[in-house]
Amino acid sequence: MSRNTLVFGLGLAVALVAGWVAFPRALYVQRQQPLEFRHKTHAEKSGVAECSECHAVREDGVFAGIPAMEKCAGCHSERIGESKAEATLVDNFIKPGHETPWLVYARQPANVWFSHAIHVKRAGLACTECHSTYGESDQVRLYQVNRISGYSRDIWGHSISRLRRAAHEGMKMSDCEDCHRRHNVEMGCLGCHE
Ligand code: HEC
Ligand code: HEC
Ligand code: HEC
Ligand code: HEC
Ligand code: HEC
Repeated sequence: MSRNTLVFGLGLAVALVAGWVAFPRALYVQRQQPLEFRHKTHAEKSGVAECSECHAVREDGVFAGIPAMEKCAGCHSERIGESKAEATLVDNFIKPGHETPWLVYARQPANVWFSHAIHVKRAGLACTECHSTYGESDQVRLYQVNRISGYSRDIWGHSISRLRRAAHEGMKMSDCEDCHRRHNVEMGCLGCHE
């Protein structure tokens, strides 16, 4: 092997490592959720069985999103368990009357219009089609924001290459459109952009 090939190979290796490992790390800023909420505990211990008890599509079609503290206070006005996470909930949020500033992984840019009522009620899609198994979470994930676009990492999805992408990993414009194509849904730009 000539010296040039060796140097080239080495340079290539460095560039690949930088591109595949260092770049994604540098591209995303990590933030902690304000509270250690677990869907799993609630499914097992709280007696709340349906997603819609916390994430309802209301009669008027508006999606309630993540529930307000009022909903949590129904059970957690005082501590019912021994966990540190619940103590934080009661002492820092419920008693002083503060809302939890949840970071929404799926958050789309402000110019995108998305409706849960259309997808869940009208089209009958399951939550897992777009959110995977997060509704059974045993811990909150780290929230990652793209430094350049300011978007949540879930828009692009975790895999930078997007090669082996499961259907729910990422929700870029092309991902919305891929599913629409599969379901023969057609619309112009203004269907999704206001
Ligand atoms: C129907 C009752 C009920 C409601 C409503 C409820 N919880 Fe809980 N929650 C529980 C029970 C039961 C536990 C388990 C307590 C234990 O044994 O430690 C729990 C545990 C927790 C914990 C401890 C960590 C964990 O998840 O295991 C946190 C934090 C928490 N809940 C947050 C919330 C928040 C935030 C809301 C509102 C969105 C909420 N809960 C609504 C019953 C409820
Ligand atoms: C006791 C109330 C409660 C129930 C029941 C519940 N959730 Fe949640 N959910 C929450 C809270 C609080 C959060 C915000 C904290 C977090 O991200 O884990 C959340 C967050 C989420 C998110 C993250 C949205 C995002 O992009 O940030 C998804 C997806 C979700 N829930 C799906 C489900 C599904 C599916 C079910 C039913 C299998 C369900 N949830 C049942 C309270 C609940
Ligand atoms: C077709 C894809 C799709 C399906 C199906 C879907 N979601 Fe979502 N979900 C999204 C998108 C996209 C967002 C971000 C919306 C935005 O930023 O305006 C989101 C946001 C959320 C949020 C955060 C809302 C907020 O603004 O605080 C929760 C909670 C959630 N979804 C729960 C659910 C649950 C529970 C179901 C099943 C009943 C469900 N989703 C079904 C795509 C979907
Ligand atoms: C998993 C499949 C799937 C994904 C992902 C998906 N959609 Fe849809 N969407 C549908 C289906 C199916 C319909 C048709 C609903 C009906 O009319 O029954 C629809 C309808 C719509 C409509 C209403 C069109 C009309 O008829 O008025 C809008 C707007 C929309 N989607 C926006 C979005 C956006 C924005 C995203 C990405 C953030 C998205 N969708 C991702 C399946 C999907
Ligand atoms: C099915 C829904 C849907 C339709 C239809 C749609 N878009 Fe988008 N568009 C999105 C979503 C979701 C995003 C944000 C995520 C992303 O950047 O891919 C987006 C982002 C964009 C952006 C910003 C790019 C960026 O990365 O931030 C532009 C520009 C854009 N769309 C233009 C268009 C034009 C022009 C059309 C019509 C030819 C169109 N869109 C049709 C869903 C849609």
